[in-house]
Amino acid sequence: MNKVFLNLGKQPLANSFLKNVDKNTLRNEFFYNLKICFNTKNYLVSIKKPVNPKKQYTDKYAHRASESKTMKLAFKNIAKKLFKRFRPKKIMEIGSNDGVFLKNFKKKSVIAIEPCKNLAKITKRLFRTYDKFWNLKLSDKLIKEKRGEIDLIFSANTISHIPDLKETFRGIYNILSKDGVIVIEDPSLLKVIQNNSYDQFYDEHVYVFSTISINNIIREFGLRLFDIEHLSTHGGSNRYYICKEEGKYKNTLRLKKAIKKEIYFKLHKIETYLKFSKRVNLSKKRLLTLMKRLKTKNKKIISYGATYKSTTVFNYCKINSKIIDYVTDTTLNKQGKFTPGTHIKIISPNVGINNQVDYAFLGAWNFKKEIFRKERNFLVRGGRFITHVPKVKILNK
Ligand code: TYD
Repeated sequence: MNKVFLNLGKQPLANSFLKNVDKNTLRNEFFYNLKICFNTKNYLVSIKKPVNPKKQYTDKYAHRASESKTMKLAFKNIAKKLFKRFRPKKIMEIGSNDGVFLKNFKKKSVIAIEPCKNLAKITKRLFRTYDKFWNLKLSDKLIKEKRGEIDLIFSANTISHIPDLKETFRGIYNILSKDGVIVIEDPSLLKVIQNNSYDQFYDEHVYVFSTISINNIIREFGLRLFDIEHLSTHGGSNRYYICKEEGKYKNTLRLKKAIKKEIYFKLHKIETYLKFSKRVNLSKKRLLTLMKRLKTKNKKIISYGATYKSTTVFNYCKINSKIIDYVTDTTLNKQGKFTPGTHIKIISPNVGINNQVDYAFLGAWNFKKEIFRKERNFLVRGGRFITHVPKVKILNK
C-alpha cells in the first residue's frame, strides 16, 4: 500500500528554465503536486502522481552529461572497469544522453537508447542510437533486428526516471543474454534520509531507490541483485549489479552488508519517512528564517549552481528574487534564463561571483569540495556559503 509521507507542494518541471518572464510565459508555466509516498509492501519510495514523460524528455532537454569534467572522468572509469570485469561483446545504454559513457567502447559494439531527440542526434553520428523511450516493444524491435542478446546494459540516473518499472524490467529481461549483466546507478535513499536532502525529489526522480526496494522489485521480473557499490556522485548514489535469476554470479558480501545497513536504519518502516518529513519541514523554516534575517541586515545573497535540486528547494521554501539576487551557473544554455517557478535570473559565475556578494546558497551542494577549492578567494575575503544539507548552516570551510 502506498502511503504519502511528504508534501513538497506545487512544483514546476525541475529543468524548465524560462527564456523570459513575460506575462504570457508565466501564464503557461506548468506546475504539478509533488507528493512522495512509501510502499509498505515492496518499500519503494516514489512520486504519488508522476508527470507524463513526454512532457519532460523533449527535444529541448538541457542536461549534457559531458559538460562536467568530474562526470566525464567518472563515466570513463566505470566503462573501463565494467569492460574488464564482464568482457561484454554487446553493450546497450538506456538514457545515453550525449554518449559520455558509450564513447569509451568500440562503436560497433554499442546501442544507445535516448528519447530526447536533441541528445540522440549527437550520438546518431557516432553509433546506433534509438531516439525512443525504453519499453518492452522497443526490446522486441531490437530482437527482430537481430540486436538482442545484450551482455551489458548500463543505465545511470535513468531507471529512477521511468514511471513504468514493469515495462522497463520486462524489456531488460527480454533482451539480456543468459549471463548478461545490468548495471544501474541512481541516488541512494539512505543518503537522502541521512542528508535530509529532500531536494532529490523532483519530477524526474519518480523513484529514489533503496537496495531493499530494488531487490524486491526486480525479483518479480526474473532478475536478481548480486552486487552493489556506493558512490559519491549526486550526494551519494548506489551502483546496482543485476543478472537473471539463474545467472552465474554469486551474491556478494558487500550486498548483504548494504541490505543489513538499510534494515538497521529502518528503510522498511513508514516511521522513518514520517520522521524525515518532520525534519524537512524544520529545514524549510530554518532556511527561510536565516535568509530573511540576513536580508534585514542588507546582505546580498546569491545561489551557486542552477540545479534541478534547487528547483525543489526554492519552490518548496518559497525563495524568490526578493531573497536571492541571482543564480550563477557555468552551463551556457542555462545562463540568461530564469529558474523554474521562482523566476530568479541565471548568470555566469565570471560576472556573478564578485565583491558585492555576502552569501551564496549551495544549490550544487553535491560539488561542495570542487566549489570550495574554486572559490577560495570568495571565502578568503569573507564570503560565506549557505547549505541545507544535512542541516541549515553557514559555511566558511
Ligand atoms: P547537478 O549536479 O547535475 O545537479 P542536478 O541534478 O540537481 O541538476 O548540477 C550541477 C549544476 O551546477 C550544473 O548546472 C553546473 C553547476 N555548477 C556550477 O555552476 N559551478 C560549479 O563549479 C559546479 C561544480 C557546478
